[in-house]
Amino acid sequence: MPRPELQAPPEIFYNETEARKYTTSSRIIEVQARISTRALELLNLPSDGIPRLLLDIGCGSGLSGETLSENGHHWIGYDISQSMLNIALEREAEGDLLLSDVGQGLGMRPGVIDGAISISAVQWLCYADKSSHEPRARLKAFFGSLYRCLARGARAVLQLYSENMDQSEMIMKAAMRAGFAGGVVVDYPHSTKARKAYLVLTCGPSSMQTSLPKGKGEDCEDCSDGDESDDDNSETVGIYDRHRPTKRLKLNKKKGKGKAWLLKKKEQMRNKGYTVPPDTKYTGRKRKNHF
Ligand SMILES: C[S@@+](CC[C@H](N)C(=O)[O-])C[C@H]1O[C@@H](n2cnc3c(N)ncnc32)[C@H](O)[C@@H]1O
Repeated sequence: MPRPELQAPPEIFYNETEARKYTTSSRIIEVQARISTRALELLNLPSDGIPRLLLDIGCGSGLSGETLSENGHHWIGYDISQSMLNIALEREAEGDLLLSDVGQGLGMRPGVIDGAISISAVQWLCYADKSSHEPRARLKAFFGSLYRCLARGARAVLQLYSENMDQSEMIMKAAMRAGFAGGVVVDYPHSTKARKAYLVLTCGPSSMQTSLPKGKGEDCEDCSDGDESDDDNSETVGIYDRHRPTKRLKLNKKKGKGKAWLLKKKEQMRNKGYTVPPDTKYTGRKRKNHF
């Protein structure tokens, strides 16, 4: 069976039949709830009991959002499939639902969101379903708008199923270009079934970044498929960060070459026979940066 992303665009793949099938499968309900709980844990929200305003990107029928509500948070869900959102309404999802293509940006006011999760959705942006679709441009619009609407220091945790390394790289690069720092946390990397990759992103200056959480079950060599027992021998997989030169470094580059250099240059020009103004106490002096 080919991947859903290769079968049809999401708004067509998740039609009425598929949306109902998805939401009535007890296995899917259980898996999505488990992934959402882990994503919420990786968001690392303060444990002060204050409800936060979160985004659920590709919220579908509200399975992932249910975990956010159960933990006392408010949420806004984006999805491109009307059928999925209809089921979310039927199931009385507590979040506010938006029928929207996140590849065109989120359209939120800057800095108003405390965190974002996305469960099994962002890899859809890597596929060009229309002639006007350019995956890199869509990822740029998505990550740029996500970065802008998050409060400084807030996190976004995106669980995704990339098709290959090129896709993972493309997604990661788009996130870093938008300004995020962070990396990938992989739970149960040795199990084909239980393996889950989470892109954990932090918004804001490096002083606000915390160290990347550890993945579960990294050292569990003989973890069989589906074995997700809690394991403390764990590691983080892959840390990415952007290295943008600071303004101070740029300013230092512009510094002049000094009086000695100027006098030497003038001497060289005189030796070559050029007419050069005489050296005075003003030659090569440091100028004030204001009048
Ligand atoms: C596998 S479902 C996951 C739904 C939900 N997060 C859950 O945990 O049950 C992926 C969802 O992503 C949505 N999606 C895919 N591409 C999207 C896009 N460009 N904009 C908004 N939603 C999208 C699909 O419509 C689908 O509902």
